[in-house]
Amino acid sequence: MTPKPPRTLFICQNCGFQTGKWLGKCPECEAWNSLVEEVVSPEPPYRRTPDQVAVRSRPTPLISLSPSQEERRPCGCREFDRALGGGVVPGSVVLLGGDPGIGKSTLMLQVLDRLSGGGFIGLYISGEESAGQLKLRADRLGITSARLLVATETCLENILKLLDSEKPHYLVLDSIQTLYAASLPAAPGSITQVRETAFQLVQLAKRSGIPIFLIGHVTKEGAIAGPKLLEHMVDTVLYFEGDRSHTYRLLRTVKNRFGPGQELGVFEMRQTGLAEVTNPSALFLSERSLEAPGSVVVASIEGSRPILVEVQALVTPSSLGMPRRQAAGVDAGRLSLLVAVLEKRVGLAFGNQDIFVNVAGGIRLTEPAVDLGIIAALTSSLWERPVAADTLIFGEVGLTGEVRTVAQTEVRLQEGAKLGFRRALLAKGQRNQLRSVRDLQILEISSVREALRRLFPPDR
Ligand code: TYD
Ligand code: MG
Repeated sequence: MTPKPPRTLFICQNCGFQTGKWLGKCPECEAWNSLVEEVVSPEPPYRRTPDQVAVRSRPTPLISLSPSQEERRPCGCREFDRALGGGVVPGSVVLLGGDPGIGKSTLMLQVLDRLSGGGFIGLYISGEESAGQLKLRADRLGITSARLLVATETCLENILKLLDSEKPHYLVLDSIQTLYAASLPAAPGSITQVRETAFQLVQLAKRSGIPIFLIGHVTKEGAIAGPKLLEHMVDTVLYFEGDRSHTYRLLRTVKNRFGPGQELGVFEMRQTGLAEVTNPSALFLSERSLEAPGSVVVASIEGSRPILVEVQALVTPSSLGMPRRQAAGVDAGRLSLLVAVLEKRVGLAFGNQDIFVNVAGGIRLTEPAVDLGIIAALTSSLWERPVAADTLIFGEVGLTGEVRTVAQTEVRLQEGAKLGFRRALLAKGQRNQLRSVRDLQILEISSVREALRRLFPPDR
């Protein structure tokens, strides 16, 4: 029998949707210009014959299974372990995404270096950099371990051979977009290749128990092959992000089958690599301008820990017919809502004002607990009256102008007290939770109106 000739299909590079003809917009994920013609082989090479499949899985009563001992191996890098939910789970596949140049390769080299200190062999496979470039970086990072192995390779079949011969405990692939399976005609980085190589690597991890870290260049627009598709295939997805003009980097968990789905690790990029930041609040508040109108400190919970951040607002008369509303670090829709609450419930006039809101340090705040802080910053800038620098603010604001309590009040206050705050403005009704918090004067309020009266007392 002659094998069927390869044929071509148009495949969405964002979600993997396939069609026989070209379309400008993917009907599945609605991305524009994402369909690319790819050669696909008639039979995916991983398809098994029926008898191979038969031996593999036999149904068992669920109640008769023994719970898996979820072994977790800490890497010794606290912020990285935190993002993973405590450590690496054997056989898991972790996707580390982020913009080019943010520090993904640096982070993974440092993690492997830490692991090799614990006696583990780490294999770092680079398809992006030459051995010389890797050595330059390693020197910069002060890596001296002989257990950290590197190879420059992009062919999946060769990588599998390397695994057989070197028997590493950990594997890093930098990056998934450079890998290709020789058995497929499609180009490296195309969605067919990304899907096939990732599939084989996931199988390999499950079979061998070796944790695999895949580095992926994933831009915010998802412009490069298969980001969404990859996210479904792997166990854990981490995003490394940060403002290039600043030195800190945030390692954000967006999916984790083995731990909390939302965690945040904080690093600082130095001349000698990434350093862990164990007290992010202090870092984010270090550049704060005290007692400036429009500046407020909010207590937000990121993952499992409180982080204090400065929210800044600038409200200034507009020269445009349609005043600007710009939000960086907070949701623009939420900002409009809070402005509307201030207009309707307090009677402030923002109609002819440009409004800019910014969260210092490039961090993104998604919790409703920051509402009251945004309200305070907006009013402070509008009235040109500073909020006392020793005041911590948090609370969720409702449409009627009421302020509601938020979870984990105590933890937020403790973090504030630790960093020298003296007063906290928050929603009424949490007294009994606050016994352990001393050194902080608690200002309890129940509405936005009342909050503003406490923050900006009338001039005598
Ligand atoms: P890199 O890990 O190559 O980023 P990615 O793999 O995400 O593309 O990091 C590149 C940047 O980090 C580069 O701009 C230089 C900077 N850097 C430092 O500031 N200090 C260091 O010790 C290292 C190794 C890199
Ligand atoms: Mg890199």
